[in-house]
Amino acid sequence: MAREQWGTKLGFMLAAMGSAVGLGNIWRFSFVAGENGGGAFLLLYLVFVFLIGIPLLLTEVSIGRKAKSDVIGSYKTLAPRTPWFMTGFFGVCSAFLILSFYAVVAGWALYYFVNYVTGNFFQAPAEGGFEGAFGGFISQGWQPLFWSALFMTLTIIIVFSGVKKGIEMANKIFMPLLALLLIILAGFSLSLDGAMEGLAFLFQPDWSALTQPSIYIQALGQAFFSLSLGMGALLTYGSYLSDDKRLPSAAVGIGLMDTFFAVISGLVIFPAVFAFSIDPTSGPPLVFITLPSIFEQMPLGGIAGLLFFFALSLAALSSAISILEVPTAYFMRLFNWTRKKSSVIVGSIMFFLGIFVSLGFGIWADVTPIADFNILDSMDYIASNIFLPLGGLSMALFVGWYFAKPTALKAVDLKDDVFGNVWYALVKYLVPIMIIVIFISSIQ
Ligand code: PHE
Repeated sequence: MAREQWGTKLGFMLAAMGSAVGLGNIWRFSFVAGENGGGAFLLLYLVFVFLIGIPLLLTEVSIGRKAKSDVIGSYKTLAPRTPWFMTGFFGVCSAFLILSFYAVVAGWALYYFVNYVTGNFFQAPAEGGFEGAFGGFISQGWQPLFWSALFMTLTIIIVFSGVKKGIEMANKIFMPLLALLLIILAGFSLSLDGAMEGLAFLFQPDWSALTQPSIYIQALGQAFFSLSLGMGALLTYGSYLSDDKRLPSAAVGIGLMDTFFAVISGLVIFPAVFAFSIDPTSGPPLVFITLPSIFEQMPLGGIAGLLFFFALSLAALSSAISILEVPTAYFMRLFNWTRKKSSVIVGSIMFFLGIFVSLGFGIWADVTPIADFNILDSMDYIASNIFLPLGGLSMALFVGWYFAKPTALKAVDLKDDVFGNVWYALVKYLVPIMIIVIFISSIQ
């Protein structure tokens, strides 16, 4: 069977941006920044995106394009009879862990969308406000699972049927819509009483936060998660690219776009968090309690909320399909399964794992696998802060040290000039050193 291919470079770009822009930019960025002191975290995150993220993004896509196989198969093709294929194992494991909780949170977004359709969330409930409404919803057993199941079903259907193209086309409309909504929301949020405190939180680094070792690994994990890096999602998408498409500009474009979405989300959330006296360290519920308060006060907020949660659910969907694609492509090759069989089996296992995540906000709230982290936080920590950067480290070492320099440069479409040499030096030396140092310092 001939390997599937993108029709055009635009098709690839839309899919890759669809993968990058998702819950990571809005939901995860906000709560992780909130938990890690705001400004200092943002600064570290930006440094990591530019020094580690974008150079590795280029590297990851090029490995897939060169090998034309899945995450594990690509390393086996490029480096036969070596252990490099282990890089792909971390990718497959992180895909299982990440989509399991991603589908739960995306289910929350779907539930919010429906509550804007029905008008239920136009006004805060008299008792408990939006915080109470959210807490009441996620602590139930069945309801959140229903929405998560719906989201996972949509994801599976898209991955096995041909409508991926439809999703990309939808993204062409809804990603700009999401950006526009975020810009309008940021404008409104900044006009709230007390907004300045939020701005200061986000843009005036409290330098003492940098003495906490955990902030480094959190910022690194966020950069990887948000850029869809280190799992093999972009590698797998790259494997459907033909060799004549140029990569460096695509990598920079995807990186910048993704970062824009994160920063603008911060401008929406933090002014409102301070204006409404919400605790910035609320964790995963943060945006789900902050956003409805913004919509409640904003003119035409009900419609804005409806459009927003629709666009957010779609953004989550286009990210989720890229995650499901990683193990789906792997098992298709490994067991010779059809696309349908592979995606249904893999997606169902992920949904099953997600049941634990969801119940971790209800009857299993006391289950804390790591330190005082609940089930979602624990899975997220292992996958995003450890497995993804580990995948990135291995990828950097592979291209920097296993390949000869001319082969590496050729793979990423760079020449032996300033750009080429900067990229090469970053990937060969700086990226591995930074990741290793961050890992070691976070263990203490
Ligand atoms: N980047 C996606 C987001 O920000 C999540 C993701 C992570 C997708 C890893 C693919 C791989 O929502």
